[in-house]
Amino acid sequence: MSKNLKSYGLHNIQDLNFKFLSSSLKQKFITNYKRCSLFENRISKITNSKYSISCNNGTSAILMSILSLNIRNVVAIIPNINFVAIASIINLIKGKYIICDVNKNTGMIDKYSFLEVIDFCKLKKIKPNLFFPIHYAGNVINLKEIKEIANKEKISIVEDGCHSFGSLDTKNNPVGSCNDSRCTTFSFHPVKNITTVEGGAITTNNHNVYKKLISIRNHSLIRTSIEDPYYLQSPSLNFRMGEINAEIGLQQLKKIGQFKTKRQKLVDYYILRLKKYDKFFSVYNFKSKKVFWHLFVILLKSNLKKNKKNFMNYLSKHKIQTQIHYKPLSFHKVLKKNAIKTFSKNSKIFYESQLTLPLHTKMNFKDIDYIDSKIKKYLNI
Ligand SMILES: Cc1ncc(COP(=O)(O)O)c(C=O)c1O
Repeated sequence: MSKNLKSYGLHNIQDLNFKFLSSSLKQKFITNYKRCSLFENRISKITNSKYSISCNNGTSAILMSILSLNIRNVVAIIPNINFVAIASIINLIKGKYIICDVNKNTGMIDKYSFLEVIDFCKLKKIKPNLFFPIHYAGNVINLKEIKEIANKEKISIVEDGCHSFGSLDTKNNPVGSCNDSRCTTFSFHPVKNITTVEGGAITTNNHNVYKKLISIRNHSLIRTSIEDPYYLQSPSLNFRMGEINAEIGLQQLKKIGQFKTKRQKLVDYYILRLKKYDKFFSVYNFKSKKVFWHLFVILLKSNLKKNKKNFMNYLSKHKIQTQIHYKPLSFHKVLKKNAIKTFSKNSKIFYESQLTLPLHTKMNFKDIDYIDSKIKKYLNI
């Protein structure tokens, strides 16, 4: 049994070129310099976006993107199946949010869940001005129809692409191309599809948003003259990425083809081995080969769903880490308290059945055989 299964996700930096890493530290400047620019150029190429801005993590990317839109009083629509970052940020900037339900099969917002919120807002005369959908597990949300509704209601869209760097939609548009949004945010945390250790990026096609992001990344300070060196445009923070992180990112980008193929092979093998358990759980819809799969998700049924905790403990005892992505935002008291309204019917269904099994590029087929054997034993079949 491999040690690899102790984490549901894991970085793969074993082939780092230390010569290049050390040369990144021998430059004149070691933060936000040439490697960062190069990394940004490559990200723009991969995502087919005009501009790309590197930053220190995905959470910063979210905050920066909100600040870049110059929205006075943020009233955001955010999905219930979600990492806590977006909701926490909106709380911190004293904005408001409506927690939107998701599709019970994909875990992502769809046209119907979005319309449910829009109808509610019209009834209550609330004017949302920001929509922050998530591309979940590597998958790609279809924003075409939602965008039309959002445009009519003057709602800006920012995509959270933290799970889905390198994924393409059915028309081969990469996540981050921003065809339907003002900008897209990415995280390069170690469990993500590629890593910079810690790091993030934002892509956009809008020159003004780009200029604003560049300024926000560096405290929104502008150099004026030698005797009065700083003009503060607006309160901001330091969101810069280090050169060594960008160098790691550049090396990781060279491997995305290899990583994507490996993840796809593991997903295909999982499906092959696990389809016999379809009475107990179904596997997430992994049909698209254009997706760079980030999480291996299964949806538990009936008894197994009821015994989820027991099943997770059993797998953990056998050194297989499982995870839940995610506990709905509306289930966090502190977040629910500050929400204008929460919609949670399908999110609850998804949450109760959802389970993430290990998926990362250090795994092999034998690891999946091992997981299969343990599941078989547990189900006693
Ligand atoms: C969907 C989503 N958004 C945002 C983030 C935040 O990214 P980071 O951990 O790089 O700050 C994460 C990280 O796990 C995430 O999964």
